[in-house]
Amino acid sequence: MILVTGGAGFIGSNFVLDWLAGGDEPVVNLDKLTYAGNLANLASVQGDVRHTFVQGDIGDSALIDRLLAEHRPRAIVNFAAESHVDRSIHGAEDFIATNIVGTFRLLEAARGHWSQLPADDKAAFRFLHVSTDEVYGTLAPDAPAFTEEHVYEPNSPYSASKAASDHLVRAWRHTHGLPVLTTNCSNNYGPYHFPEKLIPLMIVNALAGKPLPIYGDGQQVRDWLYVTDHCSAIRRVLEAGRLGETYNIGGWNEKTNLAIVHTICDLLDELQPRADGQSYRTQITHVQDRPGHDRRYAIDARKIERELGWRPAETFDTGIRKTVGWYLANAGWVQNVQSGAYRDWVATQYGVGQGA
Ligand code: NAD
Ligand code: TYD
Repeated sequence: MILVTGGAGFIGSNFVLDWLAGGDEPVVNLDKLTYAGNLANLASVQGDVRHTFVQGDIGDSALIDRLLAEHRPRAIVNFAAESHVDRSIHGAEDFIATNIVGTFRLLEAARGHWSQLPADDKAAFRFLHVSTDEVYGTLAPDAPAFTEEHVYEPNSPYSASKAASDHLVRAWRHTHGLPVLTTNCSNNYGPYHFPEKLIPLMIVNALAGKPLPIYGDGQQVRDWLYVTDHCSAIRRVLEAGRLGETYNIGGWNEKTNLAIVHTICDLLDELQPRADGQSYRTQITHVQDRPGHDRRYAIDARKIERELGWRPAETFDTGIRKTVGWYLANAGWVQNVQSGAYRDWVATQYGVGQGA
């Protein structure tokens, strides 16, 4: 079996659902259930004996020790993190606690467990750390995309905390020999994406008749990957990645934020036209830019293709159509996540009247 952390969040829950759909190996899913963790994402595997959910913190060493001793997983896949850049700007404490201290404690627990395994199990054990392309900092418009050799230059409290965790993972390999793998992925999108991030926020706000807040000029570039492609890449790295290596994962889909929002509006115009016949584009508003806003991210995903034969299955056109369709079909999920905590955040970030 494998231990997944953060498996009630956006990518983690997609990973757990895909994992169980693709085989019979059980998953222990440890998640603290912060505002971003949502058991509704896992409703379809509720009662499935292959899925054991445990509410808890990756920083709780005693709990992790107990889970490892009890379940003896062959691998740990660490998704658990505070993941939202804007929240890290408003307050970084939780980012330091989970992304840095939590990863440290998880590594230590994994090391204790791994070091006592019989030789065959020890050789097969893996600690896969899920990270981000944001650790590399920002790119000039014409600069080549990030390779695995790119210097770490994190600019936000979020990316700095993820960079620190990547360095810890690397050190636990070099110093202690722990069999680690690290993946650095570009921006994901798809089902179960919490509507504080660009794509789900724009879909949800558009349908609610609310403003679509673009930071600054909207010409910032991100490299978008459909979430199930990220999951298949992680499975592939877990299966065949070389120990101690890092793999960049991306979709070869660089888009400006404005282009993303235009695409979402156009799809909604087609699939669920506004009652007044106007385009959802009329709801676009430009708001104050994010402090320290990285201008461009782009992933060079040739290493994972060359070494492990992985390529994304979705194009941006197919992925965004599926995503918009999923949000239209799952209004109940959206209502469920729009809890008090989420509404408070939107009011802090965008001011009264702009948000949910
Ligand atoms: P998310 O915020 O949707 O989910 C994070 C999950 O971790 C939540 O379920 C939360 O409850 C849980 N969690 C938080 N603190 C915890 C703790 N201390 N102990 C246990 N669980 C805890 O994030 P996501 O978008 O699914 O991202 C998952 C991982 O992938 C993160 O490590 C993130 O840095 C990385 N990543 C995300 C993206 C992206 O575009 N979303 C891209 C590249 C990498
Ligand atoms: P986000 O989804 O927060 O991901 P990240 O900052 O990790 O890349 O934001 C994606 C891009 O969209 C980023 O350039 C910031 C921008 N953005 C907006 O313009 N308006 C918004 O309301 C949000 C949430 C993001």
